[in-house]
Amino acid sequence: MCNKILPYFVSGTVIRGFGRGSKALGIPTANLPEPVVNALSKDLDNGIYYGWASLRGEVHKMVASIGWNPYYKNEKKSMEVHILHKFQNDFYGEELKVIIAGYIRPERDFSSLEELIKEIKNDIAITEQQLEEPVANKLKNDDFLTTKINN
Ligand SMILES: Cc1cc2nc3c(=O)[nH]c(=O)nc-3n(C[C@H](O)[C@H](O)[C@H](O)COP(=O)(O)O)c2cc1C
Repeated sequence: MCNKILPYFVSGTVIRGFGRGSKALGIPTANLPEPVVNALSKDLDNGIYYGWASLRGEVHKMVASIGWNPYYKNEKKSMEVHILHKFQNDFYGEELKVIIAGYIRPERDFSSLEELIKEIKNDIAITEQQLEEPVANKLKNDDFLTTKINN
């Protein structure tokens, strides 16, 4: 399927999402701006992906959801990145760089919030494992993530 265009590189300034991320789910997500989402390749299918995120000069594992969040019936396409690292404070307005390394599953609707959370926890476990595979693991050293942008 969409794996032919992976790894896929994206960057942007973190914006506020719909505000449900940390509160309702206990899984905070960093949202990318609308123009960045609209510029994603049409060959990148909606769904859940694992990869690497660079923020504040550090590289961490991440799991991302791209699409319409059927559970919440969003009217706008979004790209939400959950970074597998505990941060002390919010990073709105900061530069986030992401390498999407692999596909996990399509977005789904769920009959309860508990089921959605359970599935996301499973996505996180898959991410932890898959990023230890050599081909995906070495992407964390890619210049795209490690080079600082001078402005
Ligand atoms: C790893 C991951 C998987 C997700 N999977 C789904 C999904 O299958 N269906 C869905 O409706 N939303 C899914 N979501 C989106 C959550 O519903 C979303 O993060 C939540 O609505 C918070 O959004 P907000 O931060 O913009 O408020 C997923 C999010 C993440 C981080």
